[in-house]
Amino acid sequence: MHRDSKIYVAGGQSLIGAALLGELESQGYGNLLGKYTEGLDLTDPSQVDAYFATTKPEYVFLAAGKSGGIEANRKYPADLMRDNLLTGCHILHSAFQHRVKKLLYLASSCSYPKHCPQPMKEEYLLTGLLEPTNEAYALAKIAGIKLCQAYRRQYGAPFLCGIPGNTFGPGDDFSGDDSHVIPGLIRRMHEAKQKKAPSFLIWGTGAPRREFIFSRDLAEACILVMNEYDEAEPINLGMGSDISIAELAMLLKEIIGFRGEISFDSSRPDGMPVKILDSGKLRNLNWKPRTSFRKALEETYQSFLRSEEKQDRGARTEIKLLTADRRPRPAEGRARTGDRRP
Ligand SMILES: NC(=O)c1ccc[n+]([C@@H]2O[C@H](COP(=O)([O-])OP(=O)(O)OC[C@H]3O[C@@H](n4cnc5c(N)ncnc54)[C@H](OP(=O)(O)O)[C@@H]3O)[C@@H](O)[C@H]2O)c1
Repeated sequence: MHRDSKIYVAGGQSLIGAALLGELESQGYGNLLGKYTEGLDLTDPSQVDAYFATTKPEYVFLAAGKSGGIEANRKYPADLMRDNLLTGCHILHSAFQHRVKKLLYLASSCSYPKHCPQPMKEEYLLTGLLEPTNEAYALAKIAGIKLCQAYRRQYGAPFLCGIPGNTFGPGDDFSGDDSHVIPGLIRRMHEAKQKKAPSFLIWGTGAPRREFIFSRDLAEACILVMNEYDEAEPINLGMGSDISIAELAMLLKEIIGFRGEISFDSSRPDGMPVKILDSGKLRNLNWKPRTSFRKALEETYQSFLRSEEKQDRGARTEIKLLTADRRPRPAEGRARTGDRRP
């Protein structure tokens, strides 16, 4: 990519997409698309094609397609699968038709089998059954990888696939039940702190080890891959280090300032004991994360606090408007009556 190349980040408002736009900008790429695409429905092939025809991007990062934590996967398997299948399918086809110079499709580490040997190497994809709770989403992501490879095989299309680990960072979805592990823990623990709760319960034993990647570090890795990698085989995008859920909770306790006890409900299932990507190929491109895990968690917590403040301000404004609305306003009343006439 050159600094003036036209670069489209599909899903530019997502956690990963927004981090990509920010990182591209800070590296001096100035011709960016995807920040303001509200109203563009990527599941509609004609809208996607019209967007490519009008904007003519040269490089595409495909970070669209909805994702979520265990609860979101349990409650909305059809929505997650359909959204990822359709957005992937239409963007890849339009990118092919409009001859983009390179495209990076973002799959997910959920695409690996449930009982995958650890650390997970790219060649272990499709060697076993998937985790049933996220099978629908994972299959859509696998279909995306295979579609990239099929376009490459049949037409020589310059499509790449990256497999990010669990990503977190500023602007994450902190909404609660449907969130990923870190934003979900941040919200719940912050609420426990506010209520001065004596304890904070986590499902499982706390022993499972997981890998997380900070969205800004992932964005940097994606840009490097776009510039330096050109293989049909996917490339894992992970930190290369893991942490137990108990250790993660203790770190968050310090950062959030929660004073109660952390307890574990070991009657709940733990899932896989370890889940970590083998990111050797990425290391060979000379990438390593720039942000310490603690600093990344701190930034994410600060972003959560800002989003809470914004919501509070929004709620206060709404109350003010509602209160103002209840005051008698004869002129407006007349206008509204007039409006209702046929
Ligand atoms: N977060 C992770 O831990 C993680 C890990 C590995 C891979 N991934 C993958 O990386 C990509 C980005 O993840 P994320 O967590 O940043 O995503 P996200 O927060 O769930 O957001 C998905 C993005 O895609 C957009 N999008 C989805 N369907 C769309 C549609 N039909 N039309 C227009 N826009 C649509 C959303 O726009 P709206 O908000 O307007 O709907 C949003 O900007 C996803 O494909 C995900 O599967 C994520």
